[in-house]
Amino acid sequence: MPEADLKILAYLELPQQAVSKRKDRLASWSDICDMHSFFRTAGVGSSPLTRLSANPFATDEVLRFDDVSLSYGRHAEALRRISFHLKPGSFHFITGASGAGKSSLMKLIYMAVKPTTGRIELFGHDVSKVSARDLPFLRRRVGVVFQDFRLLDHLSAFDNAAVPLRISGRKPDSYRSDVAELLTWVGLHDRMNAMPPTLAGGEKQRLAIARAVVGRPEILLADEPTGNLDADMSERILKLFTQLNRLGTTVLIATHDLAMVARSGMPVLHLEAGRLIRRGSGVER
Ligand SMILES: Nc1ncnc2c1ncn2[C@@H]1O[C@H](COP(=O)(O)OP(=O)(O)O)[C@@H](O)[C@H]1O
Ligand SMILES: [Mg+2]
Repeated sequence: MPEADLKILAYLELPQQAVSKRKDRLASWSDICDMHSFFRTAGVGSSPLTRLSANPFATDEVLRFDDVSLSYGRHAEALRRISFHLKPGSFHFITGASGAGKSSLMKLIYMAVKPTTGRIELFGHDVSKVSARDLPFLRRRVGVVFQDFRLLDHLSAFDNAAVPLRISGRKPDSYRSDVAELLTWVGLHDRMNAMPPTLAGGEKQRLAIARAVVGRPEILLADEPTGNLDADMSERILKLFTQLNRLGTTVLIATHDLAMVARSGMPVLHLEAGRLIRRGSGVER
């Protein structure tokens, strides 16, 4: 296996055999582009996608938190007794002041940290019972836009965006034009060959977004994804997330951009000092 691939696997904590054993559950990215001209219609409110509310998932809950608390070491609790669940294909924002616990909630869902007490189910699996061997397979169904991007500095912007496809065993020839189209959509058409250290903050953020959505994850977690973007680009990214959601992806976006939340009309999970204060609609216990 090429050294670059090994570095990717190590970075994503994937065992080598994960590459070949992967079975895709969803239609491929190129299928979607063919069927719906995804990126030509993504900016248009009345695209054919708006009539689709595909639910390709067997589980009737993507995510469930039951009385979940999280403490970092001896610090006070970052999250306190959180309970909620998300239906497949739902779209929620997580709001709250800095330090309220938004990123901690994301980390729990991504299984980067374990709850101190309580139970989390992801795709119907109790995450505390998932073996180290199975963890990468579960994680791969989750797309994440990290607050600190976590780009791979030794790979070009194009190769960074293609990482999830490469890991799923797709051949570069099969995804080259799709990745290029996606990068063009997020305004990186002339930065595809650039290395991450040479990208500006907003460019890094858009690249992280492209990587998170390119594999059509079952759930998308985005932690302050528009923090470095201007209003027009934020709107464009929100449209991208909305279109992905209409294709069946469950979306959870942490943000402090309350204007964007209000414009979108999507329901909100609001955190205050680690407690979940329910708001909006569509959140069931
Ligand atoms: N690795 C960590 N170690 C100790 N405390 C942490 C760590 N990460 C976050 N915290 C604390 O947990 C609380 C919630 O933080 P965070 O989830 O980052 O909030 P937000 O994303 O809403 O700003 C804060 O009080 C923060 O200081
Ligand atoms: Mg945060």
